[in-house]
Amino acid sequence: MYTLVRPILFALDAEKAHYLTLESLNWAYQLGLITPKHNAAPEQSVQVMGLNFPNAVGLAAGLDKNGSYIDALSCLGFGHIEIGTITPRPQPGNPLPRMFRLPQARALINRMGFNNHGVQALIENVKRAHYSGILGINIGKNFDTPIDQAAEDYLICLRAVYSHAHYVTVNISSPNTQNLRQLQHSDELGILLSAIQAERQRLSDQHGRALPIAVKIAPDLDSQQIHAIADLLVTHKIDAVIATNTTIARDAVSGLTHAHEAGGLSGAPLKVAAQSVTTQLAQILQGALPIIGVGGIQTGPDATERINAGAQLIQVYTGLIYRGPALIDDCVQAIAREHASTSRH
Ligand SMILES: Cc1cc2nc3c(=O)[nH]c(=O)nc-3n(C[C@H](O)[C@H](O)[C@H](O)COP(=O)(O)O)c2cc1C
Repeated sequence: MYTLVRPILFALDAEKAHYLTLESLNWAYQLGLITPKHNAAPEQSVQVMGLNFPNAVGLAAGLDKNGSYIDALSCLGFGHIEIGTITPRPQPGNPLPRMFRLPQARALINRMGFNNHGVQALIENVKRAHYSGILGINIGKNFDTPIDQAAEDYLICLRAVYSHAHYVTVNISSPNTQNLRQLQHSDELGILLSAIQAERQRLSDQHGRALPIAVKIAPDLDSQQIHAIADLLVTHKIDAVIATNTTIARDAVSGLTHAHEAGGLSGAPLKVAAQSVTTQLAQILQGALPIIGVGGIQTGPDATERINAGAQLIQVYTGLIYRGPALIDDCVQAIAREHASTSRH
């Protein structure tokens, strides 16, 4: 089905096609043409961050920034859905156009810039949704909040979403908010994570439940930086690391139309870098905290490769644009086959 629709969508501007697809999915859901998919196969379930994921394949952040399409997306068979990035106040994001397809490379470049309706609007959407599966909420800072006050934006979002999420992702790796990735530097990251850990402790006492916190990192880090980040995540009792966000590197797409556009590159050309970050993290962490692998996963074998590199869960975004929802089941089945074959040996 998606193979038939794709040429029509690809004839449209990338962001228009994005909303048309999500709106169509929503109509199909409202009309009862599609229904939430519940995973019935217990052998596909995975325990991560103390949560029981019905399968290992999730939706990466950024596709449903405001949580407007949670129920419709729940019909596609994800084991979890991550919404956001959300910021304390609404903001329009960067001027259009800001999303570009590079079809020869099965890639996208985006510089959306955290366009979103603000954390309160997201919470209203979450409250309205009927979805009962695992929901992650990805939080960030407003573009006009000075970087030395960024922690307060994360804390505002953390407090607001605390009772509405199964886990929260602290996004410090988008290339489209000026200076955001500075928060990955040791000194800044130590300060941010201490503030988040202290607030989580306070909220945990208040709510009687410790909300798992994941941190999402960039692929554009050298091994020393990856080491330093991993050490800080362990020190500050973070529950998972999501690797990776989009890349600012362009070597894998040089010469292609749109390759020069500013922003983050996602999809097939990101696979090697994202896989390498997962491999390095797995070696450093030795199981101290789980890894959620994301970046360039577009086939079942890509999914098993990421799991074999040390990821407990994976997420997809750009692969959905090129492959449609069939990608989700491909990945779920490939991981299940891999688990079955490793448990036989
Ligand atoms: C259009 C677009 C918007 C995105 N927005 C966000 C975002 O708001 N927050 C975030 O953490 N990641 C965001 N991402 C990054 C994805 O979650 C993912 O980490 C990245 O695209 C790599 O995975 P992929 O190759 O499967 O797309 C965005 C990606 C795309 C393509």
